[in-house]
Amino acid sequence: MDKNFYITTPIYYPSAKPHMGHAYSSIVSDFFARLKKIQGYDVFFLTGTDEHGQKIQRAAESNGKDPIKFCDEISKTFKDLCKTLNLSNNDFIRTTEGRHKKSVENLWNILENKKEIYLSKYSGWYSVSDEAFYADDEIEEVNGSKICKISGSKVEWLEEESYFFKLSKWQSSLLKFYEDNPEFILPETRKNEVISFVKSGLKDLSISRKSFSWGIKVPNNDDHVIYVWLDALTNYLSALNYPNVNDNLYKKFWPASVHIIGKDILRFHAIYWPAFLLAADIEPPKRVYGHGWILSGDEKMSKSKGNILDPIEIIDKYGLDPLRYYLLKEVSFGNDGNISNEKLENCINSDLANNYGNLCQRVISFCEKNIGLKVPDVDKFNNDDVEILNIFKINFENLKNQIDKQNINFYLNFIVDQLFKANKYFNDQEPWKKKTDIKRLNTIVYVALEIIRKISILLYPIIPESSLKALHIFNISEKDIDFETILDNNFLNKGDKINKIQILFNKIT
Ligand code: ME8
Ligand code: MG
Repeated sequence: MDKNFYITTPIYYPSAKPHMGHAYSSIVSDFFARLKKIQGYDVFFLTGTDEHGQKIQRAAESNGKDPIKFCDEISKTFKDLCKTLNLSNNDFIRTTEGRHKKSVENLWNILENKKEIYLSKYSGWYSVSDEAFYADDEIEEVNGSKICKISGSKVEWLEEESYFFKLSKWQSSLLKFYEDNPEFILPETRKNEVISFVKSGLKDLSISRKSFSWGIKVPNNDDHVIYVWLDALTNYLSALNYPNVNDNLYKKFWPASVHIIGKDILRFHAIYWPAFLLAADIEPPKRVYGHGWILSGDEKMSKSKGNILDPIEIIDKYGLDPLRYYLLKEVSFGNDGNISNEKLENCINSDLANNYGNLCQRVISFCEKNIGLKVPDVDKFNNDDVEILNIFKINFENLKNQIDKQNINFYLNFIVDQLFKANKYFNDQEPWKKKTDIKRLNTIVYVALEIIRKISILLYPIIPESSLKALHIFNISEKDIDFETILDNNFLNKGDKINKIQILFNKIT
């Protein structure tokens, strides 16, 4: 079994500073990256910024800046956000880098050599905001302006000479590809949308623009820049040192295990991208997961509504791990979800402070008072002990399978369940009434410690910093975390020193 795992976020437009939606995709991707890492995979986790095209050129102009200066500044805010979000990304790619240009030009040349590209003229609708071409039936008129029905963004009429990719030719190959790879597009509902779009007929795709200059020039024709989506999608290859197909990164990590994206850009990732790759004789990625929207209240975030959620503000107020936990637990992955201070505070108080934090504190302080700060000696487990300890074993394969389908909800629900059970176990066993039966008291504490250890490992991909604080109880550091050890009911060695820890989460009152 190949134990390599390549995961990507979308590369974000540095047209304005990052918002909660970007943070969401990145946190979700980091969750999977860390989870795979502790499962012993070699992980490559990529994020970055998508810097060419008319949208960025216009944004730079309206800020009175040179496009590259403008991109340098805003791309840096995305890069800084990676640190703020505690992402474990291995690379941060910018499409204005030389390594990327080389990779895009190479892909273009291959497509051209394979006669997949021809020169013609485009006339139709274009949305600069989405950097997308739309057909007549995708457009409606609202208050005198033409907008795209799906994205709601303004479109303009475009007529210019353009290179085309023979997308129509790939229609049946794509349908066969979806059929042969039934989990290429997840979640299932999104897959059905894509398939019916492809079945309804694909037109050739315009892949160059002529009326502006901010982009990668078409090889052998300086009048054109390469369509920003063909440019952007190729980032997933560039970061692996494509076109050097003998490079270790490329050999190890292509095809990508999963591209995590929002549902807005599914068409590009699930149709255009595999079509380009099939045409170039490159294996398509294994999966594209299109998640839902983070709403502000009940509405989509937008500049005009002034309801853009800033992840930094929330982190300053509540801390990073509570935000990461909230986004992963309270937003049902695949669907839209929203975030409000009230819901976030409830989540911190009930799950993090009362459930997890409290479990750690009460068990450690009970241990300190009655046994001392060391792993107690166990007599033997009774049925209650075995039952709670073995839940991890019983659910192990299923947990792994669900994670491999990006079923975050299953994983989080499992953890929350175990937290409840652990607290209940400690209450029901009443170790404080067992002071005359020291063997039993020791065993209860041992079991509670083992469960704290197991749950903290499961929590590591979600709230890495807090999980590491908790694992410090057992002197387990980041490099030692091994997912498989949740199977072990006797991991802790009797007599080993354990450490007290600070309160993990403060209750919000
Ligand atoms: O589309 N809720 O960049 P972009 C959840 N450059 N996720 C959201 C979101 C929201 N409200 N808003 C944005 C682009 N996102 C292209 C991508 S990839 C080769 C090129 C996330 O800056 C979500 O992942 O508009 C969405 O797909 C992405 O940000 C779009 O970011
Ligand atoms: Mg967008």
